Amino acid sequence: MRDNFKSSFGVLVAMAGSAIGLGNLWRFPYLMGTNGGAAFIIIYLVLVFLLCLPIMMSEFVVGRRSQVNAVRAFKVLHPKGRWGLVGVLGVLASVALIAFYCVVGGWTIDYLVHSVSFSLPEQGASEGFFAAAVSSPWRTLAYTWVFLLLTALVLLAGIKDGIERYTKIMMPLLFLTIIVIAVRSVTLPGAGAGLEFLFRPDFSKVTADTFLNALGQAFFSLSIGCATILTYGSYVKKHEKIVKLSSLTAVSDTFFAILAGIAIMPAVFAFGISPSEGPGLLFVVLPDIFDQMAGGGVISILFFFVLFIAAITSSISLLEVSVTFLIEECRLRRRTAVLLSSGVCLVLCTLCALSGGVLSDIRILGRTFFDFFDMISANFLMPLCGLLVVVFVGWKMKRPAFVDELSNGGTLPNRRLYDVIFYMVRYVAPIVIAVIMIFGWL
Ligand code: PHE
Repeated sequence: MRDNFKSSFGVLVAMAGSAIGLGNLWRFPYLMGTNGGAAFIIIYLVLVFLLCLPIMMSEFVVGRRSQVNAVRAFKVLHPKGRWGLVGVLGVLASVALIAFYCVVGGWTIDYLVHSVSFSLPEQGASEGFFAAAVSSPWRTLAYTWVFLLLTALVLLAGIKDGIERYTKIMMPLLFLTIIVIAVRSVTLPGAGAGLEFLFRPDFSKVTADTFLNALGQAFFSLSIGCATILTYGSYVKKHEKIVKLSSLTAVSDTFFAILAGIAIMPAVFAFGISPSEGPGLLFVVLPDIFDQMAGGGVISILFFFVLFIAAITSSISLLEVSVTFLIEECRLRRRTAVLLSSGVCLVLCTLCALSGGVLSDIRILGRTFFDFFDMISANFLMPLCGLLVVVFVGWKMKRPAFVDELSNGGTLPNRRLYDVIFYMVRYVAPIVIAVIMIFGWL
C-alpha cells in the first residue's frame, strides 16, 4: 500500500518545512527593508493569498487527486496529450534546485560545526573564512555530501516514519529558535533602527519592481513549480482540507519570513552595518556581528541551527519528488530509489560545490555550475512548470473536478470560494507566471 501522511499537522509541517527555507532568511528581510517596509508586507500578502496560493492549491489538487508521482499524475488525470511532460519538468526543476541547495546546506553545517566549537572567525576575518569555506575543495565537498546524506537518510524511512516524523520535531524547534534570536536581536542597544528599516511604511519606495520582486519571492518561497507540493499532496489523505492546509502553509511561511527579518535586521543595524542579502548577509555579515555581540557565541549556534533546519526541510521535499518518481515509474524499492536519486544529486552537487573553487573556470552559458543551476531552476524550469500546471488545471482538468477535490467530494461548504479559486487559476495565474518569467529573463 502507498505510504501516507498520518495527521493534518504532519502534512502542515512538511509543507511549511518545504516552503520555509533559505529564501525566507537571506532574501525576504532585505527585500522588505528596501521596498517600503510595511508597505511591502501588504503587497506581499495580497500577492501570496490572491495569486500564489491558488497556484499552490493547483499543484496540491493534481497530487491529491491522482495519488501518484508528478509524471504519472498528469497522465492519470488527462490521458490524452503529453501532459506527463509537465511532471518531467517538475522533476528536473527539483533536481536542478537541489544541486545548489545542498551546497548552501553544506555551508550551514560547516558554520554550525564552527559555532558549536566556538571557532567562527573573529570580526574582520569573516570574508576570508567564507571564501575558504566555499573554495577549499575537500571542506566544501565534505559538508555538501553530509547535507545530502542527512536528507537521504530521512527519506529512506518514508513519508510517515521519515518526513512526517522528523519535520514534526524540526519545525516547532525552528520557530522557537528564531523567536529566541529575534528577542535577543531587538533587545540590543540601537536595534530600533533595524526595526524601522524593516517596518516603516514608505509608499514612495513602491515601484513596479516592488511588485515583481514580491511576486518572484512569493513564488519561490511557497515552493511552487518544482512538483514538491504535488508530490507531498499525493501522500495526503482524502479527508484533509486542501484550502486550509495550503493557507496555513502560506501563513507560516510569511510569518517566519517576518520573524527572520526581526531576528536579523535589528542586529545588523545595532552594529552600524548596512544591510545586504544573499550568502554575504548570512555567512559574512552575521558572523561579524555575532563576534561583537554579548552572548553572540550562543546566538550563532542557534542561528546556524535555524539555517540548517530551514534548508534541510526544503531539500527533503525536493529530493522526495524524484524518489517518488523512481519508486513508481521504475518500480524500485524506496531504498534503491533514494540511492539512485541521491546518486544523481551527488554528482550535480559536487559540480556546484567545486564551482566555488577548482571548477570556477568552467562555465555554462557564462555561469559557474552553481549559478547555472540556480538560474535554470529559478528563471526557467520552476516558472515554466508552474505555468503549465495552472494551464492544465484551469483548461484541461476543468472546474467540476477541481471543485470536487477542494471540497472533498462536495462534503465541505464554501462552493463559491472554490469557484473563485478556480477562476484565479484559469485566468489570472497564467498571466502572473508569464510576468515572473519575463521579468526573470530580463
Ligand atoms: N521555498 C524554499 C525557500 O524558500 C525553496 C524551495 C523551492 C524549496 C521549491 C522547495 C521547492 O528556500
